[in-house]
Amino acid sequence: MAEGEPLAYVNGTFLPLSEAKVSILDRGFQFADGVYEVIPVYAGSPFRLGAHIRRLARSLGDIGMDLPMATAAFAEAVYELIKRNEGGDCQAYIQVTRGEAPRNHSFPEAVHPTVVMTCTPVTPVPGEWVRDGVAAISVEDIRWARCDIKAISLLPNVMMRQKAAEQGAYEAIWMHEGRAVEGAASNLFAVFDGEARTPPDGPRVLPGITRDVVLELAADEALPVRTGEITADELAAAEEVWVTSSTKEILPVTRLDQQPVGSGRPGPLFRTVLDAYRARIQAIREHGEEGPS
Ligand code: PDD
Repeated sequence: MAEGEPLAYVNGTFLPLSEAKVSILDRGFQFADGVYEVIPVYAGSPFRLGAHIRRLARSLGDIGMDLPMATAAFAEAVYELIKRNEGGDCQAYIQVTRGEAPRNHSFPEAVHPTVVMTCTPVTPVPGEWVRDGVAAISVEDIRWARCDIKAISLLPNVMMRQKAAEQGAYEAIWMHEGRAVEGAASNLFAVFDGEARTPPDGPRVLPGITRDVVLELAADEALPVRTGEITADELAAAEEVWVTSSTKEILPVTRLDQQPVGSGRPGPLFRTVLDAYRARIQAIREHGEEGPS
């Protein structure tokens, strides 16, 4: 084991990342038959762990699987992984697949799920991304009709993120039947007449946990943020656009399809919401989170 090598979790065992292996017959590898979660960790405290485990259980239920351990045991394994990796600011990744079986599309009779977890240090979001905003492109939603399942089959997302990168953009925003739905790895907010809107839950949208935190903060602090559809035409004329995710928190999109969004600078509602979000994170850094919430 190389010094300082991160530890991974594979089916109940903690071991150095370079020794963490699963079979090539694993259905995750063969069919992308599995689901995942990415959990932000601040000063050793996983943020909204309970919500992430609930979403994992829901994704598993939707693909005909159960959470492989009780919620408390699952949470304990995540805490243990973070502790063994010396905590700090990091990102916990959980992947659960249907397990190893001879290659045959339908579900195998006797199979044990594969549970893999890693904990990696996070690269902080560059200050200028928040100060100046990032670029995004809009793309046709070529994904499937169950984007509410956090499935490991991310080929469309990978392809469109690459397309965005090739155009100097950070994110690709999926457009489906004349509506903007979400980003390739983020949820979407757009501001109209001073009010932010984010597309409601549905089969085309991942119920994002960062997005839920933003909606919760907005409710607590009486900020003008609500769920509602966003048409493609509206998006092109939005005053502000933001994207949210566990890894990048809230980012302002200031260029969309090579055009400035609103004034071309991060907007005032973005600043207010980001300040509220950061205050929540600061509290977690200082006091941790009270149990998995
Ligand atoms: N992705 N929508 C999609 C398609 C996503 O992949 C993600 C996150 C989100 C935001 O969800 P949350 O706020 O719960 O992270 C929305 C993770 C970070 C990833 O794939 O790495």
